[in-house]
Amino acid sequence: MKIIEVESYEKLSLLAADMIASQVLFKPDCVLGLATGSSPLGTYENLASRCGEGRLDFSRVRTVNLDEYCGLTAENPQSYRYFMDQNLFGRVNIDPANTHLPDGSASDMEAECARYESLVESLGWPDLQLLGIGHNGHIGFNEPAEDFPARVHTVQLAESTIKANSRLFDRVEDVPTMAVTMGIGTIMKARRVLLIAGADKREIVERAFHGPVTPQVPGSILQLHPDATVIFTRS
Ligand code: F6R
Repeated sequence: MKIIEVESYEKLSLLAADMIASQVLFKPDCVLGLATGSSPLGTYENLASRCGEGRLDFSRVRTVNLDEYCGLTAENPQSYRYFMDQNLFGRVNIDPANTHLPDGSASDMEAECARYESLVESLGWPDLQLLGIGHNGHIGFNEPAEDFPARVHTVQLAESTIKANSRLFDRVEDVPTMAVTMGIGTIMKARRVLLIAGADKREIVERAFHGPVTPQVPGSILQLHPDATVIFTRS
């Protein structure tokens, strides 16, 4: 695994956007695995600017997102679909039909998990998967556990995750307690993985990428991925 330290969040975002843009240039109909949250905001901003200036073409790109809250419809401003539309999809020339997230409002979540896993497989798995990491080491919404989950599944969010994500809700009680997420097995099938981590993630970056591989720190599995890059900053 390649671990790259940069001096600022701006540099991190620029470098991550460079990697994604080169993937799109190399394979214009590539499948990008995408993440939500604070970490990729600068990366998405960079990609949107490049696209606006005509330097990047998303017209043939397909995307699959990692996860979605259960119980929120696409129109809900707290949903990850809404986040992606606002921060990336609505700002680049991507065909909305080529953008995919799990449907957190599906009435049969078991069927939805199976549908989403098959969809990602039918697209040939991501050429490049972008990830953030939680303070507890989660990637996607794969929380610390006894085993690494293989496939798309629903998950009970950890108390610490609910607390961390409550910054984006009016009240902590409004944060959904369940989510649907790609499994660790799904994520590991991506040809390349890029994890970005800002200064607030110093401690977990150390534990996940310089410590033992364990499902108690789900992100640590990336040490075993054949093509994983971590870009992080301490400031
Ligand atoms: C989001 C996701 C999560 C976040 C992680 C870090 O789609 O899968 O694993 O990447 O919670 O979130 P931020 O970037 O907000 O610190």
